[in-house]
Amino acid sequence: MPSIHPLAALGEIAAEIAHELRNVLQVARTSVYLIRRDLARGAPVEDSLARLDRSVANAQAVVDDVLALAQAQALAKESVRLVETLRAACEDFDVHLDDIGIAPDLEVRAARGLLVRLFRSLLDNAVQTAPAGPPKITARAWHEDGKVVVEVADNGPGIAASLAPRIFEPLMTGRPGGTGLGLALAARIARAHGGSLTLVDGHGGESTNVPAVFRLALPV
Ligand SMILES: Nc1ncnc2c1ncn2[C@@H]1O[C@H](COP(=O)(O)OP(=O)(O)OP(=O)(O)O)[C@@H](O)[C@H]1O
Ligand SMILES: [Mg+2]
Repeated sequence: MPSIHPLAALGEIAAEIAHELRNVLQVARTSVYLIRRDLARGAPVEDSLARLDRSVANAQAVVDDVLALAQAQALAKESVRLVETLRAACEDFDVHLDDIGIAPDLEVRAARGLLVRLFRSLLDNAVQTAPAGPPKITARAWHEDGKVVVEVADNGPGIAASLAPRIFEPLMTGRPGGTGLGLALAARIARAHGGSLTLVDGHGGESTNVPAVFRLALPV
């Protein structure tokens, strides 16, 4: 089996941490801006302070999560409710999560923070590619061959057929400003759980887009 040079792996980890920290730091900066502004006005700053506090905790979680991922055997799995992780991933995003065909008590064994991160990568893409306004997200889940299968879809334009086969490769992006790390990280999280993340191939042809329907399979 080919082995990955330790420094190459380190580069990938560093890139993933940087990728995940970008949004967190942006939220922190916004909070600091609001705190300064409200202090100058003598307005209350508790909400912004709480947000800043959450951002710092998030930044710490990013580093912990991604490092845990680098040592796949050490994943701290727990029983987590799928619906709850999806809802947690929706926080900080302007998305409509309707149509959840998932039993409220359906649980999987997963490292919770990483699973939320995986869903966040999918939602982030839905938001980035939505033509106008917040995207509509649908999710459903079922048991199949000793696995829990979760399907997440959005109502955006879908994925160019030429890009679809390489969508999970690191640095593969189809949009200006994209780094192409979101799905690579998400797929790595799925694999670290002994599962997989795939694009459900719809009816994409040469000129048609593949619908943005992602399928996560996790062993129970
Ligand atoms: N839900 C989606 N709808 C349409 N296109 C998508 C969707 N998800 C992914 N893509 C396409 O796949 C590409 C790769 O996605 P990925 O999340 O890996 O990287 P990125 O979004 O470009 O950058 P990053 O996530 O690192 O900020 C996207 O640039 C986009 O072209
Ligand atoms: Mg992305």
